[in-house]
Amino acid sequence: MNPRSAVFALFTVGIVAVLLAGPMRSVHAQKQPAPLAALPAVPVPPDQPLTADRVKLGELLFFDPRLSGDGSIGCVDCHDPKKGWGDGNALSRGYPGTMHWRNSQTVVNSAYLKNFFWGSGSSTLEAQAHSAATGALAGNIQPRLGEERMKQIAVYVDLFQRVYGEKPSWEKAMLAIAAYERKVTSNDAPFDRFVRGDRTAMTAGQQRGRTLFETKAGCIACHNGALLTDEQHYNIGVPPNPEFVTNPQRQIAMRERIRGKGIPEQVYLKFDRDPGRYLETKKDEDLGKFRTPPLRYLTYTAPYMHNGVFFTLEEVVDFYDRGGDADSFGTKSDLITPLRLSGQEKADLVSFLESLSGTELRHERPTLPPYGVLEFPMTSGTFK
Ligand code: HEC
Ligand code: HEC
Repeated sequence: MNPRSAVFALFTVGIVAVLLAGPMRSVHAQKQPAPLAALPAVPVPPDQPLTADRVKLGELLFFDPRLSGDGSIGCVDCHDPKKGWGDGNALSRGYPGTMHWRNSQTVVNSAYLKNFFWGSGSSTLEAQAHSAATGALAGNIQPRLGEERMKQIAVYVDLFQRVYGEKPSWEKAMLAIAAYERKVTSNDAPFDRFVRGDRTAMTAGQQRGRTLFETKAGCIACHNGALLTDEQHYNIGVPPNPEFVTNPQRQIAMRERIRGKGIPEQVYLKFDRDPGRYLETKKDEDLGKFRTPPLRYLTYTAPYMHNGVFFTLEEVVDFYDRGGDADSFGTKSDLITPLRLSGQEKADLVSFLESLSGTELRHERPTLPPYGVLEFPMTSGTFK
């Protein structure tokens, strides 16, 4: 190598080093967890303002079973306000004739998320609503059928006209449901009030629990920011749910979903448990990983975890205290190790988790508008 090209090579190495150092610094910065915080106002797309009509339309559609194939199951049936806006079961019910293989998540505060579902299978509320309504395990409807049903309901025709200036359409129906979900939020937890300045809002035990959460127990590494989630994916060694192990219907449901993601039979027949995030990325390193769930509104959303295997927050804290359970995917996070907490520390941690839930969001079922008989121009002789 002549001296000039040696200098050039050194120069290039220098540039590359500088380029590498930049991103490395920022990766390091990301490791600092976002501090816990009170919930800010919910983000609303500027072109979808939460007007009364838009939210009303979304509310009716959220409760309306006619947005499912056989007209029997609405969003509300698996996201019931009386059950923490989930369905209260360890594993969710499914579309009639199916049984879901995962726990139904709460929709409370889901409008703050950027990744939806346990494995982050959707990235907008609207796309999420479409997957839920059309998926074989949930709403199982063809959008065309949904549109024709809505067009036969005068109140919907009127509301779509007022909100979107057009006839009922599937796409706009999903926008309206998302608008309604942006109203289903809870930000009055004792923790929120404490952070906003009311020093009496949290008990001494809850405050000790918060300190443990942020230090010795290490929870904040993944559960951070105002929602208490980094929205990243981890395998924390949650044990299988015995109901999944013994119920063929649950297994059929899981395989239906896995196949839907284009994963071949010789691969998916191996899974005796939920491969989680792998369904979306098909990377072995994502086997058994799930999105860190938010920790708000927990008081109302038991049972916990993607498969609802824990019924109380005490069980969850015991699980973390023993360093999680065995994992058969080989992807368990190094952040999950035995904590050796005392009885008092465990109780404090549970108290802190309880301080993250505010008043229960009750919501009466609205009266759904009936189908009507349309008037046809040709009946009065004007077909052309
Ligand atoms: C048969 C039960 C069922 C029905 C019906 C249903 N869901 Fe769900 N929902 C679930 C389950 C189970 C999950 C978690 C599924 C997963 O992770 O794969 C979920 C997840 C969600 C989430 C994600 C929350 C989060 O934290 O990421 C939202 C939002 C949601 N559903 C809204 C809806 C809407 C809107 C409808 C109606 C269009 C609906 N669901 C219909 C069972 C149901
Ligand atoms: C390595 C990241 C990580 C750490 C550290 C962590 N968690 Fe989690 N947490 C998760 C993930 C991922 C899930 C969902 C796992 C699943 O369903 O398989 C979860 C689930 C939960 C749930 C259930 C929530 C629900 O809606 O079902 C609670 C409660 C919880 N964690 C509390 C804690 C506490 C308390 C600590 C500290 C002792 C902690 N977590 C530490 C990642 C983490």
